[in-house]
Amino acid sequence: MSYNIPIRPRRNRVNSSMRKLVQENHVCVDDLIMPLFVIEGQKHKIEVASMPGVYRFSLDKLADEISELWDLGIKAVALFPAIDESLKDSLARESLNPEGLFQMAIKTVKNTCPDMLTICDVAMDPYSSDGHDGFVEEGQIINDKTLAILGDMAVAQAQAGADIIAPSDMMDGRVAVIRQALDQAGFTNVGILAYTAKYASAFYGPFRDALDSAPKDGDKKTYQMNPANSREAMREAQLDTEEGADMIMVKPGLAYLDIVRSFAETSDLPVAVYNVSGEYAMLRAAAEKGWLDYRSTVCETLMAFKRAGADIILSYHAKEFALWQKKA
Ligand code: PBG
Repeated sequence: MSYNIPIRPRRNRVNSSMRKLVQENHVCVDDLIMPLFVIEGQKHKIEVASMPGVYRFSLDKLADEISELWDLGIKAVALFPAIDESLKDSLARESLNPEGLFQMAIKTVKNTCPDMLTICDVAMDPYSSDGHDGFVEEGQIINDKTLAILGDMAVAQAQAGADIIAPSDMMDGRVAVIRQALDQAGFTNVGILAYTAKYASAFYGPFRDALDSAPKDGDKKTYQMNPANSREAMREAQLDTEEGADMIMVKPGLAYLDIVRSFAETSDLPVAVYNVSGEYAMLRAAAEKGWLDYRSTVCETLMAFKRAGADIILSYHAKEFALWQKKA
């Protein structure tokens, strides 16, 4: 028997071909950025304890990884250096060393694979003896003194071959200062991916383990955003856009999909989302316990970013997703 139900949404789900035909969103390897941690030394590929499957690479191993990623179709990597404690100071001076780890990592990527895009994080924390993204004086983060350092850092990275500068510090006015510094140094083609709505989140824990970069004192709440706020994200987006950002980013990802959606609806710029370390660790840990199916939950997570409106996804899952796509 059947009822009179002329409208039946299940008709569009009747089999796999039909479901594929009407599918609204797709995750494409072209849109993924793979974050990579780099360390000093040789022949090191050391797993991050709180991020199984994610490694810290010495430069020789980084080169191998870059070739593998390129063969899988990944066209962009975000680099994060783990700087030796002895090289850290209050001014993050090591960040300007042309032979420093970050600059050498950029060169390694470019020498291995010239078309691989290098997305370079600009913030003081990996280099700061205080473990903060900005310059610290008497327990305060000094905005404008930090800006000059960030501008120099961006130019140092551009000189090493950075394609895109990604300020993750959340100082006021940083995009304008970095744009000006890059232009004055002749790097008018180096882009800026702004960490526009970067929240003061507990989901960054494993990342700080990987780089040993947790703040020595206090927290990041005077510069990173309050997780309770969404209109404030729009204000940051407006400023970064006016200051010359080429792309805007929301971070973390999963708990902030509403912000991704707002940016996608209101901005003309490409919108990126950062699927951060703690989000990666959650899926890994649950899968290790046998509580979740890893591959399905990863694919569903990446799809959620697309559905929310993200154009670009930074994710530690990028490589494995590319591998699955290749085998499929
Ligand atoms: C540094 C920076 C952080 C992340 C990216 N750049 C950590 C922080 O702000 O404390 C986090 C990324 C992640 O958790 O995967 N400014």
